[in-house]
Amino acid sequence: MCGITAYVGHQDALTFLLQGLEKLEYRGYDSAGVTILGDQKLSTVKTKGRLQDLITILKAQPLHGHVGIGHTRWATHGVPSNLNSHPHSNADETISIVHNGIIENYRELKDELMAHGYTFQSETDSEVVVQMLDYYYSDDLLAATRQTLARIEGSYALCILSTHEPDKIIVARKDSPLIIGEAQGAYVAASDIPALLEYTKNVYFLEDNELAVLKADSITFYNQQGQAIQKESVEIPYDLEAAQKDGYDTFMLKEIYEQPHAIAETLRGRIHENKVYLDELQNIDFNQYHQVYYVACGTAYHASLCGSQVLQKLTRLPVTAMVASEFRYNDPLIDEKTLAIFVSQSGETADTLAALRLAKSQGATTIAIANVLGSTISRDADYVLYTCAGPEIAVASTKAYTTQLVLLILLACYIADRLGFVLDAKLLEELPHISDHIAHLLEDHERFAKYAKLLEDQRDAYFIGRNLDYASVLEGALKLKEVSYVHADAYVAGELKHGPIALIEEGSVVIAVATQPQIASKTINNIQETIARGARVVLFTTAGQEVKNVANTYYLPEVPAVLQTILVAIPLQLIAYYTACIKGCDVDKPRNLAKSVTVE
Ligand code: AGP
Ligand code: GLU
Repeated sequence: MCGITAYVGHQDALTFLLQGLEKLEYRGYDSAGVTILGDQKLSTVKTKGRLQDLITILKAQPLHGHVGIGHTRWATHGVPSNLNSHPHSNADETISIVHNGIIENYRELKDELMAHGYTFQSETDSEVVVQMLDYYYSDDLLAATRQTLARIEGSYALCILSTHEPDKIIVARKDSPLIIGEAQGAYVAASDIPALLEYTKNVYFLEDNELAVLKADSITFYNQQGQAIQKESVEIPYDLEAAQKDGYDTFMLKEIYEQPHAIAETLRGRIHENKVYLDELQNIDFNQYHQVYYVACGTAYHASLCGSQVLQKLTRLPVTAMVASEFRYNDPLIDEKTLAIFVSQSGETADTLAALRLAKSQGATTIAIANVLGSTISRDADYVLYTCAGPEIAVASTKAYTTQLVLLILLACYIADRLGFVLDAKLLEELPHISDHIAHLLEDHERFAKYAKLLEDQRDAYFIGRNLDYASVLEGALKLKEVSYVHADAYVAGELKHGPIALIEEGSVVIAVATQPQIASKTINNIQETIARGARVVLFTTAGQEVKNVANTYYLPEVPAVLQTILVAIPLQLIAYYTACIKGCDVDKPRNLAKSVTVE
Protein backbone atom coordinates (compact mmCIF):
# COMPACT_ATOMS: atom_id res chain seq x y z
CA MET A 1 0.00 0.00 0.00
CA CYS A 2 2.89 2.29 0.45
CA GLY A 3 5.94 2.94 -1.68
CA ILE A 4 8.05 0.94 -4.09
CA THR A 5 10.97 2.08 -6.22
CA ALA A 6 13.22 0.14 -8.60
CA TYR A 7 16.16 1.06 -10.84
CA VAL A 8 18.18 -0.75 -13.48
CA GLY A 9 20.59 1.35 -15.51
CA HIS A 10 24.12 2.70 -15.66
CA GLN A 11 24.07 5.13 -12.72
CA ASP A 12 24.09 4.63 -8.98
CA ALA A 13 20.75 2.92 -8.23
CA LEU A 14 20.59 4.19 -4.66
CA THR A 15 20.23 7.84 -5.70
CA PHE A 16 17.07 7.09 -7.66
CA LEU A 17 15.64 4.74 -5.06
CA LEU A 18 15.95 7.20 -2.18
CA GLN A 19 14.71 10.27 -4.02
CA GLY A 20 11.75 8.18 -5.17
CA LEU A 21 10.92 7.00 -1.66
CA GLU A 22 11.14 10.60 -0.48
CA LYS A 23 8.57 11.63 -3.08
CA LEU A 24 6.24 8.94 -1.78
CA GLU A 25 6.59 10.06 1.83
CA TYR A 26 3.23 11.85 1.74
CA ARG A 27 1.58 8.42 1.70
CA GLY A 28 2.79 7.71 5.23
CA TYR A 29 4.79 4.62 6.21
CA ASP A 30 6.34 2.84 9.15
CA SER A 31 9.63 1.46 7.82
CA ALA A 32 11.92 1.66 4.82
CA GLY A 33 14.58 -0.38 3.09
CA VAL A 34 16.65 -0.95 -0.05
CA THR A 35 18.51 -3.80 -1.73
CA ILE A 36 21.35 -3.04 -4.14
CA LEU A 37 22.94 -5.55 -6.43
CA GLY A 38 26.68 -4.89 -6.70
CA ASP A 39 29.77 -7.10 -7.07
CA GLN A 40 27.59 -10.13 -7.70
CA LYS A 41 25.92 -9.91 -4.33
CA LEU A 42 22.79 -8.41 -2.81
CA SER A 43 23.17 -5.90 0.01
CA THR A 44 20.10 -4.97 1.99
CA VAL A 45 19.66 -2.17 4.50
CA LYS A 46 16.28 -1.74 6.15
CA THR A 47 14.92 -0.22 9.28
CA LYS A 48 11.75 0.48 11.16
CA GLY A 49 10.95 4.18 11.37
CA ARG A 50 11.36 7.10 9.06
CA LEU A 51 13.09 7.28 5.71
CA GLN A 52 15.58 9.65 7.30
CA ASP A 53 16.67 6.82 9.63
CA LEU A 54 17.42 4.67 6.59
CA ILE A 55 19.31 7.51 4.92
CA THR A 56 21.42 8.03 8.06
CA ILE A 57 22.42 4.35 8.07
CA LEU A 58 23.19 4.44 4.35
CA LYS A 59 25.38 7.53 4.75
CA ALA A 60 27.61 5.58 7.11
CA GLN A 61 27.45 2.46 4.97
CA PRO A 62 26.83 3.45 1.33
CA LEU A 63 25.73 0.78 -1.14
CA HIS A 64 26.94 0.91 -4.72
CA GLY A 65 25.49 -0.81 -7.74
CA HIS A 66 23.45 -0.17 -10.86
CA VAL A 67 20.45 -2.33 -9.99
CA GLY A 68 18.29 -1.95 -6.91
CA ILE A 69 14.87 -1.94 -5.28
CA GLY A 70 13.45 0.20 -2.46
CA HIS A 71 10.38 0.15 -0.25
CA THR A 72 8.48 2.11 2.33
CA ARG A 73 6.13 -0.14 4.24
CA TRP A 74 2.62 0.47 5.50
CA ALA A 75 2.42 -2.71 7.51
CA THR A 76 -0.55 -4.98 7.03
CA HIS A 77 0.84 -8.29 8.36
CA GLY A 78 3.39 -8.18 11.16
CA VAL A 79 4.15 -5.11 13.26
CA PRO A 80 6.57 -2.46 11.99
CA SER A 81 10.04 -3.81 12.88
CA ASN A 82 13.45 -4.14 11.27
CA LEU A 83 12.85 -7.78 10.36
CA ASN A 84 9.39 -7.18 8.92
CA SER A 85 10.63 -4.28 6.76
CA HIS A 86 11.14 -4.89 3.06
CA PRO A 87 13.09 -5.93 0.97
CA HIS A 88 12.85 -9.61 1.86
CA SER A 89 15.45 -12.11 0.65
CA ASN A 90 15.78 -15.87 0.41
CA ALA A 91 18.16 -17.72 2.76
CA ASP A 92 21.25 -17.59 0.54
CA GLU A 93 20.51 -13.98 -0.40
CA THR A 94 20.39 -14.56 -4.12
CA ILE A 95 16.85 -13.23 -4.63
CA SER A 96 15.27 -10.13 -3.12
CA ILE A 97 11.80 -8.63 -3.42
CA VAL A 98 9.71 -5.67 -2.42
CA HIS A 99 5.93 -5.99 -2.24
CA ASN A 100 2.99 -3.65 -1.82
CA GLY A 101 -0.37 -5.22 -1.15
CA ILE A 102 -1.66 -8.28 0.67
CA ILE A 103 -0.98 -11.95 -0.08
CA GLU A 104 -4.30 -13.44 0.93
CA ASN A 105 -3.32 -17.11 0.99
CA TYR A 106 0.06 -16.57 2.63
CA ARG A 107 -0.66 -18.87 5.55
CA GLU A 108 -1.26 -21.89 3.32
CA LEU A 109 1.79 -21.08 1.20
CA LYS A 110 3.94 -20.57 4.26
CA ASP A 111 2.89 -23.95 5.72
CA GLU A 112 3.64 -25.60 2.40
CA LEU A 113 7.09 -24.02 2.18
CA MET A 114 7.89 -24.85 5.79
CA ALA A 115 7.02 -28.46 5.04
CA HIS A 116 9.70 -28.23 2.32
CA GLY A 117 12.20 -27.07 4.95
CA TYR A 118 11.98 -23.29 4.45
CA THR A 119 12.37 -21.07 7.49
CA PHE A 120 10.92 -17.59 7.71
CA GLN A 121 12.59 -14.46 9.09
CA SER A 122 9.58 -12.18 9.27
CA GLU A 123 5.90 -12.20 10.18
CA THR A 124 4.91 -10.63 6.86
CA ASP A 125 2.72 -12.10 4.19
CA SER A 126 5.24 -10.82 1.62
CA GLU A 127 8.08 -13.13 2.58
CA VAL A 128 6.29 -16.13 1.06
CA VAL A 129 6.87 -14.57 -2.34
CA VAL A 130 10.64 -14.63 -2.12
CA GLN A 131 10.74 -18.08 -0.52
CA MET A 132 8.47 -19.41 -3.23
CA LEU A 133 10.65 -17.83 -5.93
CA ASP A 134 13.57 -19.66 -4.39
CA TYR A 135 11.57 -22.89 -4.41
CA TYR A 136 10.67 -22.62 -8.10
CA TYR A 137 13.94 -21.15 -9.38
CA SER A 138 16.13 -23.47 -11.43
CA ASP A 139 17.65 -21.33 -14.17
CA ASP A 140 15.00 -18.87 -15.29
CA LEU A 141 13.84 -16.03 -13.03
CA LEU A 142 10.91 -15.13 -15.28
CA ALA A 143 9.65 -18.72 -15.25
CA ALA A 144 9.98 -18.88 -11.45
CA THR A 145 8.11 -15.59 -11.17
CA ARG A 146 5.29 -16.86 -13.32
CA GLN A 147 5.05 -20.07 -11.31
CA THR A 148 5.02 -18.10 -8.06
CA LEU A 149 2.38 -15.64 -9.24
CA ALA A 150 0.17 -18.51 -10.31
CA ARG A 151 0.10 -19.63 -6.68
CA ILE A 152 -0.55 -16.25 -5.10
CA GLU A 153 -3.98 -14.89 -4.26
CA GLY A 154 -4.36 -11.28 -3.27
CA SER A 155 -3.00 -7.95 -4.36
CA TYR A 156 0.53 -7.09 -5.28
CA ALA A 157 2.96 -4.73 -6.87
CA LEU A 158 6.23 -6.64 -6.89
CA CYS A 159 9.82 -5.93 -7.86
CA ILE A 160 12.21 -8.85 -7.98
CA LEU A 161 15.97 -8.96 -8.47
CA SER A 162 18.49 -11.77 -8.31
CA THR A 163 22.21 -12.34 -8.46
CA HIS A 164 21.52 -15.23 -10.85
CA GLU A 165 20.35 -12.77 -13.52
CA PRO A 166 21.97 -9.52 -12.43
CA ASP A 167 21.07 -7.42 -15.46
CA LYS A 168 17.35 -7.24 -14.81
CA ILE A 169 14.46 -6.48 -12.50
CA ILE A 170 11.14 -8.24 -12.91
CA VAL A 171 8.04 -6.30 -11.94
CA ALA A 172 4.44 -7.49 -11.68
CA ARG A 173 1.11 -6.12 -10.55
CA LYS A 174 -2.38 -7.10 -9.55
CA ASP A 175 -4.76 -4.69 -7.79
CA SER A 176 -1.87 -2.53 -6.57
CA PRO A 177 -0.38 0.17 -8.79
CA LEU A 178 2.97 -0.09 -10.54
CA ILE A 179 4.30 2.41 -13.03
CA ILE A 180 7.42 2.06 -15.16
CA GLY A 181 9.45 5.00 -16.41
CA GLU A 182 11.77 5.20 -19.40
CA ALA A 183 14.69 7.29 -18.19
CA GLN A 184 18.02 8.12 -19.75
CA GLY A 185 20.03 4.90 -19.89
CA ALA A 186 17.76 3.29 -17.34
CA TYR A 187 14.36 1.83 -16.65
CA VAL A 188 12.78 2.76 -13.36
CA ALA A 189 9.62 1.67 -11.60
CA ALA A 190 7.53 2.88 -8.70
CA SER A 191 4.16 2.49 -7.08
CA ASP A 192 3.27 6.08 -7.85
CA ILE A 193 4.19 8.69 -10.44
CA PRO A 194 5.87 11.30 -8.17
CA ALA A 195 8.80 8.94 -7.59
CA LEU A 196 9.58 8.94 -11.32
CA LEU A 197 9.09 12.57 -12.31
CA GLU A 198 12.60 13.80 -11.62
CA TYR A 199 13.93 11.16 -14.04
CA THR A 200 11.27 10.97 -16.71
CA LYS A 201 7.78 11.95 -17.77
CA ASN A 202 7.47 8.96 -20.12
CA VAL A 203 5.76 6.15 -18.32
CA TYR A 204 4.10 2.81 -18.93
CA PHE A 205 1.17 1.73 -16.81
CA LEU A 206 1.37 -1.92 -15.98
CA GLU A 207 -2.10 -3.49 -15.93
CA ASP A 208 -3.33 -6.24 -13.62
CA ASN A 209 -1.69 -9.62 -14.22
CA GLU A 210 0.98 -8.14 -16.49
CA LEU A 211 4.70 -8.56 -15.99
CA ALA A 212 7.67 -6.62 -17.26
CA VAL A 213 11.36 -7.39 -17.46
CA LEU A 214 13.40 -4.23 -17.06
CA LYS A 215 17.02 -4.02 -18.24
CA ALA A 216 19.19 -0.93 -18.60
CA ASP A 217 18.53 -0.65 -22.32
CA SER A 218 15.36 -2.62 -22.94
CA ILE A 219 11.98 -3.50 -21.59
CA THR A 220 9.68 -6.42 -22.39
CA PHE A 221 6.08 -6.72 -21.29
CA TYR A 222 4.19 -9.98 -20.87
CA ASN A 223 0.51 -10.76 -20.45
CA GLN A 224 -0.89 -13.34 -18.04
CA GLN A 225 -0.46 -16.09 -20.60
CA GLY A 226 3.25 -15.33 -20.85
CA GLN A 227 3.09 -13.82 -24.33
CA ALA A 228 5.25 -10.77 -25.01
CA ILE A 229 3.02 -7.74 -25.59
CA GLN A 230 3.56 -4.19 -26.84
CA LYS A 231 2.72 -1.20 -24.70
CA GLU A 232 2.73 2.50 -25.53
CA SER A 233 4.33 4.93 -23.14
CA VAL A 234 2.32 7.92 -21.95
CA GLU A 235 3.62 11.40 -21.22
CA ILE A 236 2.68 12.69 -17.78
CA PRO A 237 1.40 16.22 -18.16
CA TYR A 238 1.46 17.32 -14.53
CA ASP A 239 3.94 18.45 -11.91
CA LEU A 240 5.09 16.85 -8.69
CA GLU A 241 2.47 18.25 -6.36
CA ALA A 242 -0.40 17.31 -8.63
CA ALA A 243 1.15 13.88 -9.06
CA GLN A 244 1.23 13.26 -5.32
CA LYS A 245 -2.49 13.74 -5.33
CA ASP A 246 -2.73 11.45 -8.34
CA GLY A 247 -4.10 14.34 -10.36
CA TYR A 248 -6.89 15.03 -7.84
CA ASP A 249 -7.18 18.56 -6.45
CA THR A 250 -7.00 17.41 -2.84
CA PHE A 251 -6.14 14.36 -0.78
CA MET A 252 -9.71 14.26 0.52
CA LEU A 253 -11.08 13.82 -2.98
CA LYS A 254 -8.42 11.27 -3.82
CA GLU A 255 -9.27 9.31 -0.69
CA ILE A 256 -13.00 9.46 -1.44
CA TYR A 257 -12.23 7.92 -4.83
CA GLU A 258 -9.97 5.29 -3.26
CA GLN A 259 -12.89 3.79 -1.35
CA PRO A 260 -13.78 0.98 -3.76
CA HIS A 261 -10.20 -0.27 -3.55
CA ALA A 262 -9.82 0.27 0.21
CA ILE A 263 -13.02 -1.67 0.86
CA ALA A 264 -12.00 -4.50 -1.45
CA GLU A 265 -8.69 -4.74 0.46
CA THR A 266 -10.49 -4.78 3.82
CA LEU A 267 -12.78 -7.57 2.62
CA ARG A 268 -9.93 -9.58 1.13
CA GLY A 269 -10.02 -13.14 2.44
CA ARG A 270 -12.80 -12.37 4.93
CA ILE A 271 -15.84 -13.92 3.23
CA HIS A 272 -15.90 -17.37 1.74
CA GLU A 273 -19.08 -19.22 0.76
CA ASN A 274 -21.26 -16.94 2.89
CA LYS A 275 -19.13 -17.36 5.99
CA VAL A 276 -17.05 -14.64 7.67
CA TYR A 277 -13.46 -15.41 8.58
CA LEU A 278 -11.85 -13.32 11.32
CA ASP A 279 -9.27 -15.85 12.39
CA GLU A 280 -7.63 -13.32 14.70
CA LEU A 281 -10.62 -13.81 17.02
CA GLN A 282 -10.93 -17.58 16.86
CA ASN A 283 -9.77 -18.09 20.45
CA ILE A 284 -12.53 -15.94 21.91
CA ASP A 285 -15.51 -17.71 23.41
CA PHE A 286 -18.25 -15.19 22.69
CA ASN A 287 -20.75 -17.03 24.89
CA GLN A 288 -19.09 -15.63 27.97
CA TYR A 289 -20.18 -12.01 27.41
CA HIS A 290 -23.37 -10.52 28.72
CA GLN A 291 -22.79 -7.06 27.23
CA VAL A 292 -20.74 -5.30 24.57
CA TYR A 293 -19.37 -1.75 24.41
CA TYR A 294 -18.20 0.09 21.32
CA VAL A 295 -15.95 3.02 22.16
CA ALA A 296 -14.43 5.61 19.81
CA CYS A 297 -14.24 9.31 18.89
CA GLY A 298 -15.56 11.39 15.99
CA THR A 299 -16.00 9.54 12.74
CA ALA A 300 -14.87 6.27 14.30
CA TYR A 301 -17.68 6.73 16.86
CA HIS A 302 -20.22 7.08 14.07
CA ALA A 303 -18.97 3.83 12.53
CA SER A 304 -19.22 2.27 16.00
CA LEU A 305 -22.78 3.44 16.41
CA CYS A 306 -23.67 1.64 13.24
CA GLY A 307 -21.65 -1.46 14.17
CA SER A 308 -23.26 -1.61 17.61
CA GLN A 309 -26.79 -1.49 16.20
CA VAL A 310 -26.01 -4.25 13.73
CA LEU A 311 -24.53 -6.46 16.45
CA GLN A 312 -27.48 -5.92 18.76
CA LYS A 313 -29.92 -6.72 15.97
CA LEU A 314 -28.10 -9.91 15.04
CA THR A 315 -27.35 -11.25 18.53
CA ARG A 316 -29.93 -9.61 20.84
CA LEU A 317 -27.06 -8.91 23.24
CA PRO A 318 -27.18 -5.57 25.10
CA VAL A 319 -24.82 -3.36 23.14
CA THR A 320 -23.82 0.24 23.92
CA ALA A 321 -21.82 2.64 21.73
CA MET A 322 -20.10 5.45 23.61
CA VAL A 323 -17.87 8.38 22.82
CA ALA A 324 -14.50 7.56 24.42
CA SER A 325 -14.20 10.81 26.37
CA GLU A 326 -17.56 10.09 28.00
CA PHE A 327 -16.92 6.40 28.57
CA ARG A 328 -13.75 6.99 30.54
CA TYR A 329 -15.35 9.46 32.95
CA ASN A 330 -18.76 7.86 33.21
CA ASP A 331 -18.01 5.03 35.58
CA PRO A 332 -19.05 2.41 32.98
CA LEU A 333 -20.31 -0.98 34.13
CA ILE A 334 -17.45 -3.25 33.17
CA ASP A 335 -16.62 -6.75 34.37
CA GLU A 336 -15.03 -9.95 33.06
CA LYS A 337 -18.16 -10.68 31.09
CA THR A 338 -17.82 -7.48 29.09
CA LEU A 339 -16.57 -7.34 25.52
CA ALA A 340 -15.28 -3.87 24.60
CA ILE A 341 -14.48 -2.85 21.01
CA PHE A 342 -12.32 0.22 20.35
CA VAL A 343 -12.37 1.78 16.90
CA SER A 344 -9.65 4.18 15.75
CA GLN A 345 -8.15 5.01 12.37
CA SER A 346 -4.87 6.26 13.80
CA GLY A 347 -4.80 3.88 16.73
CA GLU A 348 -3.34 6.75 18.77
CA THR A 349 -6.35 8.83 19.89
CA ALA A 350 -5.74 9.67 23.55
CA ASP A 351 -9.35 9.36 24.76
CA THR A 352 -9.86 6.03 23.02
CA LEU A 353 -6.57 4.71 24.38
CA ALA A 354 -7.45 5.78 27.94
CA ALA A 355 -10.89 4.15 27.61
CA LEU A 356 -9.25 0.94 26.38
CA ARG A 357 -6.85 0.88 29.33
CA LEU A 358 -9.72 1.48 31.73
CA ALA A 359 -11.80 -1.35 30.27
CA LYS A 360 -8.83 -3.69 30.36
CA SER A 361 -7.99 -2.85 33.96
CA GLN A 362 -11.54 -3.74 34.95
CA GLY A 363 -11.44 -7.15 33.32
CA ALA A 364 -13.11 -6.62 29.92
CA THR A 365 -11.91 -8.46 26.82
CA THR A 366 -10.79 -5.79 24.35
CA ILE A 367 -10.76 -5.78 20.56
CA ALA A 368 -9.18 -2.92 18.59
CA ILE A 369 -10.29 -1.97 15.08
CA ALA A 370 -7.46 0.15 13.72
CA ASN A 371 -6.03 1.25 10.41
CA VAL A 372 -2.43 1.84 11.45
CA LEU A 373 -0.67 -1.42 12.11
CA GLY A 374 1.37 -1.49 15.27
CA SER A 375 -0.30 1.66 16.64
CA THR A 376 -0.64 1.94 20.42
CA ILE A 377 -4.33 1.00 20.56
CA SER A 378 -3.76 -2.02 18.32
CA ARG A 379 -0.87 -3.14 20.53
CA ASP A 380 -2.65 -2.57 23.83
CA ALA A 381 -5.86 -4.40 22.97
CA ASP A 382 -6.19 -8.15 23.57
CA TYR A 383 -7.17 -8.67 19.93
CA VAL A 384 -6.89 -6.52 16.83
CA LEU A 385 -8.52 -6.35 13.41
CA TYR A 386 -7.19 -3.99 10.76
CA THR A 387 -9.03 -1.98 8.18
CA CYS A 388 -6.95 -1.86 5.02
CA ALA A 389 -7.66 1.72 3.98
CA GLY A 390 -3.99 2.59 3.47
CA PRO A 391 -2.63 5.92 4.68
CA GLU A 392 -5.30 8.58 5.12
CA ILE A 393 -3.72 12.00 4.68
CA ALA A 394 -6.71 14.38 4.66
CA VAL A 395 -7.77 15.38 8.16
CA ALA A 396 -11.40 14.58 7.37
CA SER A 397 -11.80 10.85 7.51
CA THR A 398 -13.48 9.22 4.50
CA LYS A 399 -12.01 5.89 3.42
CA ALA A 400 -11.18 4.97 7.02
CA TYR A 401 -14.87 5.43 7.90
CA THR A 402 -16.30 3.21 5.18
CA THR A 403 -13.69 0.51 5.78
CA GLN A 404 -14.55 0.65 9.50
CA LEU A 405 -18.21 0.15 8.59
CA VAL A 406 -17.28 -2.85 6.47
CA LEU A 407 -15.16 -4.43 9.18
CA LEU A 408 -17.72 -3.73 11.91
CA ILE A 409 -20.48 -5.35 9.83
CA LEU A 410 -18.20 -8.35 9.27
CA LEU A 411 -17.46 -8.47 13.01
CA ALA A 412 -21.16 -8.39 13.92
CA CYS A 413 -21.85 -11.22 11.45
CA TYR A 414 -18.88 -13.17 12.77
CA ILE A 415 -19.95 -12.88 16.42
CA ALA A 416 -23.54 -13.78 15.52
CA ASP A 417 -22.33 -16.83 13.61
CA ARG A 418 -20.08 -17.91 16.49
CA LEU A 419 -23.08 -17.61 18.82
CA GLY A 420 -25.09 -19.87 16.54
CA PHE A 421 -27.42 -17.33 14.92
CA VAL A 422 -28.39 -17.86 11.31
CA LEU A 423 -27.09 -15.04 9.13
CA ASP A 424 -28.77 -13.14 6.36
CA ALA A 425 -27.19 -14.82 3.32
CA LYS A 426 -28.07 -11.85 1.12
CA LEU A 427 -25.95 -9.54 3.25
CA LEU A 428 -22.81 -11.63 2.85
CA GLU A 429 -23.52 -12.24 -0.82
CA GLU A 430 -23.86 -8.55 -1.52
CA LEU A 431 -20.99 -7.22 0.60
CA PRO A 432 -18.23 -8.25 -1.85
CA HIS A 433 -20.01 -6.20 -4.56
CA ILE A 434 -20.27 -3.05 -2.50
CA SER A 435 -17.18 -1.53 -4.16
CA ASP A 436 -18.91 -1.72 -7.55
CA HIS A 437 -21.90 0.16 -6.21
CA ILE A 438 -19.60 2.81 -4.77
CA ALA A 439 -17.86 3.18 -8.12
CA HIS A 440 -21.27 3.87 -9.70
CA LEU A 441 -22.16 6.40 -7.02
CA LEU A 442 -18.90 8.22 -7.65
CA GLU A 443 -19.88 8.57 -11.30
CA ASP A 444 -22.87 10.62 -10.13
CA HIS A 445 -20.63 13.26 -8.56
CA GLU A 446 -22.21 16.10 -10.54
CA ARG A 447 -25.53 15.53 -8.85
CA PHE A 448 -23.91 15.73 -5.44
CA ALA A 449 -22.10 18.91 -6.50
CA LYS A 450 -25.52 20.31 -7.42
CA TYR A 451 -26.87 19.49 -3.96
CA ALA A 452 -23.83 21.24 -2.45
CA LYS A 453 -24.84 24.37 -4.36
CA LEU A 454 -27.92 24.58 -2.12
CA LEU A 455 -25.56 25.23 0.80
CA GLU A 456 -23.65 28.00 -0.93
CA ASP A 457 -25.15 30.82 1.14
CA GLN A 458 -26.19 28.83 4.18
CA ARG A 459 -24.73 29.10 7.65
CA ASP A 460 -26.58 26.01 8.88
CA ALA A 461 -27.69 22.63 7.63
CA TYR A 462 -29.99 20.04 9.21
CA PHE A 463 -29.43 16.32 8.79
CA ILE A 464 -32.12 13.83 9.77
CA GLY A 465 -32.42 10.04 9.88
CA ARG A 466 -33.57 7.17 12.09
CA ASN A 467 -31.97 3.93 13.27
CA LEU A 468 -28.88 3.17 11.16
CA ASP A 469 -29.59 6.26 9.09
CA TYR A 470 -29.02 8.34 12.21
CA ALA A 471 -25.40 7.15 12.38
CA SER A 472 -25.06 8.08 8.70
CA VAL A 473 -26.40 11.60 9.17
CA LEU A 474 -24.22 12.18 12.23
CA GLU A 475 -21.23 11.45 10.00
CA GLY A 476 -22.64 13.53 7.12
CA ALA A 477 -23.06 16.51 9.44
CA LEU A 478 -19.58 16.10 10.94
CA LYS A 479 -18.02 15.98 7.47
CA LEU A 480 -19.83 19.13 6.41
CA LYS A 481 -18.87 21.17 9.46
CA GLU A 482 -15.27 19.94 9.44
CA VAL A 483 -14.42 20.92 5.90
CA SER A 484 -16.87 23.69 4.95
CA TYR A 485 -17.46 25.33 8.37
CA VAL A 486 -21.19 25.27 7.71
CA HIS A 487 -22.79 24.61 11.08
CA ALA A 488 -24.50 21.27 10.70
CA ASP A 489 -26.43 19.19 13.18
CA ALA A 490 -27.84 15.72 12.90
CA TYR A 491 -31.15 14.83 14.48
CA VAL A 492 -33.07 11.66 15.02
CA ALA A 493 -35.91 12.46 12.63
CA GLY A 494 -38.57 11.67 15.22
CA GLU A 495 -37.12 14.31 17.53
CA LEU A 496 -37.55 17.18 15.06
CA LYS A 497 -40.96 18.14 16.34
CA HIS A 498 -39.69 18.10 19.92
CA GLY A 499 -37.57 21.18 19.34
CA PRO A 500 -35.27 21.53 16.33
CA ILE A 501 -38.13 22.21 13.92
CA ALA A 502 -38.32 25.68 15.51
CA LEU A 503 -35.18 26.49 13.54
CA ILE A 504 -36.59 25.59 10.12
CA GLU A 505 -37.52 28.61 8.01
CA GLU A 506 -37.88 29.55 4.35
CA GLY A 507 -34.78 28.30 2.48
CA SER A 508 -33.30 26.10 5.26
CA VAL A 509 -31.47 23.07 3.88
CA VAL A 510 -32.47 19.67 5.25
CA ILE A 511 -30.53 16.57 4.21
CA ALA A 512 -32.48 13.42 4.98
CA VAL A 513 -31.46 9.79 4.81
CA ALA A 514 -34.25 7.23 4.69
CA THR A 515 -32.86 3.86 3.66
CA GLN A 516 -34.05 1.52 6.40
CA PRO A 517 -37.25 -0.10 5.10
CA GLN A 518 -39.04 -0.49 8.43
CA ILE A 519 -38.72 3.22 9.23
CA ALA A 520 -38.03 5.10 5.98
CA SER A 521 -41.64 6.21 5.47
CA LYS A 522 -41.61 7.83 8.92
CA THR A 523 -38.56 9.90 8.05
CA ILE A 524 -40.16 10.83 4.74
CA ASN A 525 -43.20 12.10 6.69
CA ASN A 526 -40.89 14.20 8.86
CA ILE A 527 -39.48 15.72 5.69
CA GLN A 528 -42.93 16.93 4.74
CA GLU A 529 -43.11 18.77 8.05
CA THR A 530 -39.96 20.69 7.14
CA ILE A 531 -41.09 21.34 3.55
CA ALA A 532 -44.30 22.84 4.93
CA ARG A 533 -42.08 25.35 6.75
CA GLY A 534 -40.10 26.31 3.68
CA ALA A 535 -37.14 23.87 3.83
CA ARG A 536 -35.27 22.77 0.72
CA VAL A 537 -34.72 19.06 1.10
CA VAL A 538 -32.18 16.60 -0.29
CA LEU A 539 -33.34 13.04 0.27
CA PHE A 540 -31.36 9.82 -0.01
CA THR A 541 -33.63 6.84 -0.10
CA THR A 542 -34.26 3.58 -1.93
CA ALA A 543 -36.54 2.60 -4.79
CA GLY A 544 -40.05 1.76 -3.71
CA GLN A 545 -40.45 4.56 -1.17
CA GLU A 546 -43.27 6.91 -1.91
CA VAL A 547 -41.80 10.39 -2.10
CA LYS A 548 -43.84 13.51 -2.86
CA ASN A 549 -42.65 17.08 -3.41
CA VAL A 550 -38.94 16.41 -2.88
CA ALA A 551 -37.22 17.70 -5.97
CA ASN A 552 -33.75 16.54 -4.89
CA THR A 553 -34.36 12.85 -4.29
CA TYR A 554 -31.54 10.41 -4.93
CA TYR A 555 -32.29 6.71 -5.09
CA LEU A 556 -29.44 4.58 -3.79
CA PRO A 557 -28.66 1.22 -5.38
CA GLU A 558 -30.62 -1.71 -3.99
CA VAL A 559 -28.59 -3.56 -1.37
CA PRO A 560 -29.49 -5.05 2.02
CA ALA A 561 -30.46 -2.23 4.41
CA VAL A 562 -27.37 -2.56 6.62
CA LEU A 563 -25.11 -1.91 3.63
CA GLN A 564 -26.86 1.36 2.81
CA THR A 565 -24.78 2.89 5.63
CA ILE A 566 -21.71 2.38 3.46
CA LEU A 567 -23.29 3.63 0.24
CA VAL A 568 -24.88 6.80 1.59
CA ALA A 569 -21.55 7.85 3.08
CA ILE A 570 -20.28 8.58 -0.44
CA PRO A 571 -22.76 11.33 -1.46
CA LEU A 572 -22.59 12.85 2.03
CA GLN A 573 -18.80 13.05 1.79
CA LEU A 574 -19.03 14.60 -1.66
CA ILE A 575 -21.64 17.16 -0.58
CA ALA A 576 -19.29 18.23 2.23
CA TYR A 577 -16.37 18.31 -0.17
CA TYR A 578 -18.07 20.38 -2.87
CA THR A 579 -19.52 22.79 -0.30
CA ALA A 580 -16.02 23.36 1.07
CA CYS A 581 -14.74 23.97 -2.46
CA ILE A 582 -17.51 26.48 -3.20
CA LYS A 583 -16.61 28.31 0.00
CA GLY A 584 -12.90 28.24 -0.81
CA CYS A 585 -11.89 26.27 2.30
CA ASP A 586 -8.62 24.39 2.78
CA VAL A 587 -10.22 20.98 2.40
CA ASP A 588 -7.28 18.83 3.47
CA LYS A 589 -6.33 20.87 6.50
CA PRO A 590 -9.43 22.34 8.14
CA ARG A 591 -8.72 25.03 10.71
CA ASN A 592 -8.23 23.96 14.34
CA LEU A 593 -8.13 20.23 13.55
CA ALA A 594 -5.35 17.63 13.69
CA LYS A 595 -5.28 14.25 12.02
CA SER A 596 -4.40 12.37 15.14
CA VAL A 597 -5.69 13.70 18.48
CA THR A 598 -3.13 12.45 20.97
CA VAL A 599 -4.09 14.86 23.73
CA GLU A 600 -7.14 14.73 25.92
C1 AGP B 1 -12.87 12.68 11.26
O1 AGP B 1 -13.09 13.30 10.06
C2 AGP B 1 -12.07 13.34 12.25
N1 AGP B 1 -11.22 14.35 11.85
C3 AGP B 1 -12.11 12.87 13.67
O2 AGP B 1 -13.44 12.93 14.11
C4 AGP B 1 -11.57 11.45 13.91
O3 AGP B 1 -12.44 10.51 13.37
C5 AGP B 1 -11.38 11.24 15.43
O4 AGP B 1 -10.47 12.16 15.92
C6 AGP B 1 -10.95 9.82 15.76
O5 AGP B 1 -9.71 9.53 15.20
P1 AGP B 1 -9.17 8.06 15.16
O6 AGP B 1 -10.09 7.26 14.30
O7 AGP B 1 -7.78 8.17 14.60
O8 AGP B 1 -9.19 7.54 16.57
N1 GLU C 1 1.57 -6.77 3.25
C1 GLU C 1 2.94 -6.34 3.24
C2 GLU C 1 3.48 -6.17 4.65
O1 GLU C 1 2.76 -6.04 5.60
C3 GLU C 1 3.18 -5.10 2.40
C4 GLU C 1 2.66 -3.87 3.02
C5 GLU C 1 2.79 -2.66 2.11
O2 GLU C 1 2.07 -2.62 1.10
O3 GLU C 1 3.56 -1.73 2.44
O4 GLU C 1 4.64 -6.16 4.84
